[in-house]
Amino acid sequence: MIAFLLLISTILACSESAKILVVFPRPTKSHGILGDGYVRHLLNVGHEVTYITPFAYKNPPANLRTFDVSSNFELWPPGLINLKAIMDKKSERMSSVFSIFMMLEIAKKTVTNVEVQKLLNDPKEQFDVVIVEWMFGEVGAGFASVFQCPLIWSSSMDPHWMIMQLIDEPLNPAYAVDILSTCSPPLNFLQRVNELWYQLKLQFLRYVWLDGLEEQVFTSLFAPILEKRGRKLPSYHEARYNASMVLSNSYVTTSGGAALPQSHKFIGGYHIDDTVVTLPDNLKKLMDSAKDGVIYFSMGSNLKGKDLPDEVKISLLKMFGSLKQTVLWKIEEVLPNLPKNVHILEWTPQQAILAHPNLAVFITHGGLLSTTESIHYGVPIISIPVYGDQFMNVAKSINKGFGLSVDLSYTMSDELKTKIMEVISNKRYAEKAKELSFIYHDRPVKPGQELVHWVNHVINTRGAPHLRSPAADLPFHKRKFLDLAALIAVLLLAVYILLKCACTYVCSRFFSKKVKIGSRKKNN
Ligand SMILES: *[C@@H]1O[C@H](CO)[C@@H](O)[C@H](O)[C@H]1NC(C)=O
Repeated sequence: MIAFLLLISTILACSESAKILVVFPRPTKSHGILGDGYVRHLLNVGHEVTYITPFAYKNPPANLRTFDVSSNFELWPPGLINLKAIMDKKSERMSSVFSIFMMLEIAKKTVTNVEVQKLLNDPKEQFDVVIVEWMFGEVGAGFASVFQCPLIWSSSMDPHWMIMQLIDEPLNPAYAVDILSTCSPPLNFLQRVNELWYQLKLQFLRYVWLDGLEEQVFTSLFAPILEKRGRKLPSYHEARYNASMVLSNSYVTTSGGAALPQSHKFIGGYHIDDTVVTLPDNLKKLMDSAKDGVIYFSMGSNLKGKDLPDEVKISLLKMFGSLKQTVLWKIEEVLPNLPKNVHILEWTPQQAILAHPNLAVFITHGGLLSTTESIHYGVPIISIPVYGDQFMNVAKSINKGFGLSVDLSYTMSDELKTKIMEVISNKRYAEKAKELSFIYHDRPVKPGQELVHWVNHVINTRGAPHLRSPAADLPFHKRKFLDLAALIAVLLLAVYILLKCACTYVCSRFFSKKVKIGSRKKNN
């Protein structure tokens, strides 16, 4: 025991505590959970963490300093993720361009926050690494420029072309879909062409329009700060392509095995605490005694079940009441005429429910956190995707064989019932979920340890330049050999012109001879 304590204290003495800035400004709960995950793991190994977040901590633990940017909520249109508004098509569609504009506003509001300004303008502040959540834009790279330290992008989703191009090159749309896509590989001809078109279109828009806007914001936000520090701001291009690493909230279970650069690492599942929260007594009793199994229904932390239209709630209740399973429905209001087997929960210990052996199926919106948790605990899912990357996650769960989907609509309850019966009666879904769960857990180290390892590695090697992909430093025309293509084209053109001249010359000689011969003949 004493030897063990000695060992621990030597390890603690050896590993220096670093100063880390974590920036997760997006005002949605799931992104807050992902930021909290970084903070928890980094504090656990003794680092000093500064955290910019819209979700205020009531009692921040020692070594944590938080900067409250909850005013970012003002930028989030209230109807944007309202279920009824989305069903009635009254809500803004979250396209990439919409998201880029939204995140640009969030970046502005975050950096101009009074407290954040103090942090940025205090010359005594220093950090060993900055971790910024990538979300449709790279203005946040400026935090690393200010503190002249390595930058790590946190990617909240499976690896996709927009983020991979920052450290390597865009992924091939033939087998890697966009995050807002509704399909998943293998792609058929039309899907493949569609993915290519989408990527080209957005690249073009970014090149001719959006990058310029972002650059303006980047410069206006960070140039004055650096000026006070007596330095020049690097160009937006330099700053955004200079990240040491991308850490993805993803794993091969959902992303597949496509080739990725060395500076990309999977840490999917790091947000899940190793100690499963225990179920409250009443819920435990309920789940223990559910001999026909339990169905758990939750639309996640951002969407609110209570926003569903009343007629949909009524038809869902009726449908759930006709099942013999116990149903746990996470919804933020008490519903009248509750069938005996249906239980309403305003808040749920989701992971403890997913960990219970009697859980038969999880009905979800298909967010990546819920999908990851269902794989973690080996539970089959039925998804009702609503926005963002949910459609892609759902397409993947269907392809992988552990999930089914239902379209969000006023008449979805019949279809939902059919799919519930299918998942419960056909063992294949549960078996597939268990198989994926094995793959997900069968890693050399846990995702949280992986996260800590790579953050430390970046700090200790001052930006891990040895991991940097050479592709990141080659312009597009060199990577794709367009210079060679141009050279070949010029040579071919030259040969063509030469041949043509030669031909004209030879022909003219030949003809003029003929003419001469002809004229001589005539004279004779
Ligand atoms: C690029 O990153 C390296 C290593 O992290 C850092 O030392 C350097 O200052 C950065 N350069 C720019 C232009 O941001």
